[in-house]
Amino acid sequence: MAENVEVSIPASARGCKLRCVNCGKEFEQAEQDFRCVNCGELLEVFYPLRETGNPRIAEGLQATWLERRKSFHALDQSGVWRFREMLPGMQDWKNAITLREGNTPIFELPHCAKNAGVKRLLAKHQGMNPTGSFKDTGMTTAISVAVEEKFRWVACASTGNTSASMAAYAAQAGLRSLVLIPEGKISWGKLSQALDYGALTCQLRTDFDGCLQLLRKVILRLPVYLLNSVNPFRLEGQKTAAFELLEQLGWSVPDHIVVPGGNLGNSSAIGKALLEMQELGLISRLPKVSVIQAMGANPLVRTIRENGGKSLVTMQPDTMATAIRIGNPASWRKALKVLQVTGGTVEEVSEAEIALAKAEIGSDGVGCEPASAVTLAGLKKMVARKFVAPDESVVLILTGHVLKDPEYTLKFHRGDLFTGTVYEGDVKMFDGHRREPLILDADPDAVVRALEQAEKADGR
Ligand code: F0G
Repeated sequence: MAENVEVSIPASARGCKLRCVNCGKEFEQAEQDFRCVNCGELLEVFYPLRETGNPRIAEGLQATWLERRKSFHALDQSGVWRFREMLPGMQDWKNAITLREGNTPIFELPHCAKNAGVKRLLAKHQGMNPTGSFKDTGMTTAISVAVEEKFRWVACASTGNTSASMAAYAAQAGLRSLVLIPEGKISWGKLSQALDYGALTCQLRTDFDGCLQLLRKVILRLPVYLLNSVNPFRLEGQKTAAFELLEQLGWSVPDHIVVPGGNLGNSSAIGKALLEMQELGLISRLPKVSVIQAMGANPLVRTIRENGGKSLVTMQPDTMATAIRIGNPASWRKALKVLQVTGGTVEEVSEAEIALAKAEIGSDGVGCEPASAVTLAGLKKMVARKFVAPDESVVLILTGHVLKDPEYTLKFHRGDLFTGTVYEGDVKMFDGHRREPLILDADPDAVVRALEQAEKADGR
């Protein structure tokens, strides 16, 4: 059996430093578990040499980022590396591993807006990344560090999307990847991606939190590079979604950004980006960032409700939105700070509310995986309690592609999503939203009749 290994990952060589989010201690380099050696909490990247509050620099950056959109250079074509002034640098830019991530679209959700009670609703679809989720934006920056530090193996615990993304970037970089996933609790789409991209995939008889705890022990014994969102280099890449969003909005700040919450890395990254943009003078005010969790996996909601955010309330998670089936979120302190600084809130939504919201997002021709749909379900509640006013501007962050979990979608439309579960009574809420496939004879009359019946039924 392998003995303990000591690995250090330098930050200072990349023009940045690391700081503990709890005790504030600063570091030039990270240990392999990316935790503070003083208090064990998470680290964040900061840039001591960055000049802030200079309008000429802010305008120059905006112009540079726009100019790069015309370039055919790989790093400029990446919607992450296009913002490289905001990221840890590379010792050699040739080491940057990119699958041309980022560059994700913003969609209008007109029917969802009506259903939620707001005049206009936008969705930034991070599921339009190369492996179908927002994870790619962080994977590109973090894997590139692994390449420069000459790791042979990278690893993550995952509810599915991180593993798909990591496996793809590792394959592109020529690295080996180790995936730990909870057995039976991830969608087939995500599992199949990890296999196709060549990861050593282990399904463990535990949940995500169990996988992550176990992986923390493994990385202390083998020189394996950890790619969960505790890796601060990953969150730096994920930050760029917010830069890109603001650029797409012409640097005009929306009133609200709504994010799903699982391990809470994404909300932390988006919040960090907004604060950096404000410091630089790229924006003059902050949007409220709100985090939505499934009722069965709501540790952040409970932490705020039960002790005002003083200490994390962990739980045994359960939700069909398997991507966010997490009861012990690593980045809870970072996310809490984002809520506090931006004035955002938390909301929890039921399984039926998630399923309905997902179908509504589908009805706008956009679609997403279940975990992403918590944003719309949460928005409805925030409007109902007047945290969001009808004329305020709102952007939902959709985190995963609709094809990530087709089994969920099919079950919903066939009417058996909740069969045999405690939610069985809630399916009435789905009336008028289910679109069951029809099985007909191969006869044009049958198809014409079906069309006529559909026309009569929906009265459009
Ligand atoms: N949405 C999707 C589609 C996800 O895959 C995840 C997390 C989240 C939201 C929550 O983001 O953890 O940053 O708060 N998926 C991780 C994974 C945990 O392993 O793929 P978070």
